[in-house]
Amino acid sequence: MDSHTKLFGVIGDPIRHSKSPIMLNRAFRESGVNGVYAAFHVEPGRLEQAIAGVRGLGYRGLNVTIPHKVEVMKYLDEISEGAKAAGAVNTIVNEDGRLIGYNTDGIGYVRSLKEEVEPDLAGKTIVVLGAGGAARGILWALAQERPAAIIIANRTEARAAELAASFPAGLRISALPWSELRGAVAEADVVINTTSVGMSPNVDDLPLDPAWLKPGAVASDLIYNPLKTAFLARAEERGCRAHGGLGMFIYQGAYAFEYWTGRPAPVAAMREVVLASFK
Ligand code: ATR
Repeated sequence: MDSHTKLFGVIGDPIRHSKSPIMLNRAFRESGVNGVYAAFHVEPGRLEQAIAGVRGLGYRGLNVTIPHKVEVMKYLDEISEGAKAAGAVNTIVNEDGRLIGYNTDGIGYVRSLKEEVEPDLAGKTIVVLGAGGAARGILWALAQERPAAIIIANRTEARAAELAASFPAGLRISALPWSELRGAVAEADVVINTTSVGMSPNVDDLPLDPAWLKPGAVASDLIYNPLKTAFLARAEERGCRAHGGLGMFIYQGAYAFEYWTGRPAPVAAMREVVLASFK
């Protein structure tokens, strides 16, 4: 660190559990970027001041996590198309005083899915389980891959219908009655759990019966604690390809790094340091 060091950080509440600082500082070191990344505990009442601080101190970039991803949008100068579609910002780039909001969660998820299990999503049928913020965050990015259909199923059916209706028809995103989930899962090439079912401490809970899955299909879970949910373990036993949520976390950080520095992210080193932190 010296007087040229560029400043970065993550704001959230809570924030002390965040693995972003170790991941991004490792990325800077690996790539020879003169940058430093810190975690800031920002309570909701202080969000506006925190963003003013970014401007005042000339921070180059910020990640934004729960509970600020939606609220922060009103303090920025520009919002990317993907962040508008997601309805949330998780990455801010300070371009000479203009704060631009992006969402790297959805594109990070899709890059992880493509690099880790299924390079080609075009023409595939995708079932998305859940209709909360996590589902909204990945839908636009999934649709950019031109799948044949993206089908949302949610326990509270009205939320699925509302979410599907919020996207243009051309993106081929539709909602499915909960009672028809089994049939849709049996036909799907990719089934994605965006609900919290199976998250620690309730690690044995299943979002759907893995026996419904087509062997060879991709079973994907946004959860990364545990690294492999019961849903993924059971899907693998059925001959499915499992994709856990850790890649989404790593690649959302990789995209943030790339937006801030203009350089390719050292993904292997980022993954290594995050995995080591789980041990
Ligand atoms: P997030 O922003 O993480 O997506 P959320 O907006 O609270 O969080 O959404 C949680 C999602 O998990 C919802 O789709 C929720 O279904 P409902 O809309 O019916 O509540 C889903 N979910 C949570 N617990 C569930 C359960 N036990 N069974 C099925 N779906 C569940």
